[in-house]
Amino acid sequence: MYNDNLNNIVIRRIKNEDDLRAVYIIEQMSFNNPYSFELLSILSNLHYETFLLAEIDHRIIGYIMFIIQRNYLGHIISIAIDPLYRRSGIASKLMEAAEDHLKKKGILVLRLEARVSNLIARKFYLKLGFKNGYIIPNYYTNGESALVMFKLLKQEK
Ligand SMILES: CC(C)(COP(=O)(O)OP(=O)(O)OC[C@H]1O[C@@H](n2cnc3c(N)ncnc32)[C@H](O)[C@@H]1OP(=O)(O)O)[C@@H](O)C(=O)NCCC(=O)NCCS
Repeated sequence: MYNDNLNNIVIRRIKNEDDLRAVYIIEQMSFNNPYSFELLSILSNLHYETFLLAEIDHRIIGYIMFIIQRNYLGHIISIAIDPLYRRSGIASKLMEAAEDHLKKKGILVLRLEARVSNLIARKFYLKLGFKNGYIIPNYYTNGESALVMFKLLKQEK
């Protein structure tokens, strides 16, 4: 838990290999089946505009990666926070930055998949205004189902 002021947190795009290494460490601490360094590298090259980091005092403590599909749908690919900094509003801040980016591009709908067993992530998304959509059976390599969740983004006038 991070008790200091959330205003000290910088949200910025991924830039270089040092950033990627920091993301990879968070990835390994956060998932049973983490993305490989190589996959993260490919994703950061393809989607550098929508691969955002949260940083405090030059230390990377979380990331979000999202894409735009078919020019109308935002899709959250992954989000994770360093366990030491969880429950401090940092993932909420990253999601807000992602939503701001998408709204500026005129995107109206945001979608994501969460493991059915990932109750913390599901609570997090519900808190942020996502709604439960539908289940995709056998979505993950271990056979686990995914819950698809959606959020409608309000356009700024
Ligand atoms: C899910 C995750 C990204 C949340 O990050 P975070 O920075 O801790 O989230 P926030 O502090 O912004 O939490 C916002 C809200 O989400 C909910 N929430 C977050 N963590 C929670 C927890 N451990 N238990 C219950 N609710 C939780 C709460 O409603 C929280 O608001 P509150 O603290 O005012 O009660 C983080 O737990 C994580 O990295 N998990 C591992 C990776 C992962 O599962 N990613 C999602 C893949 S689908």
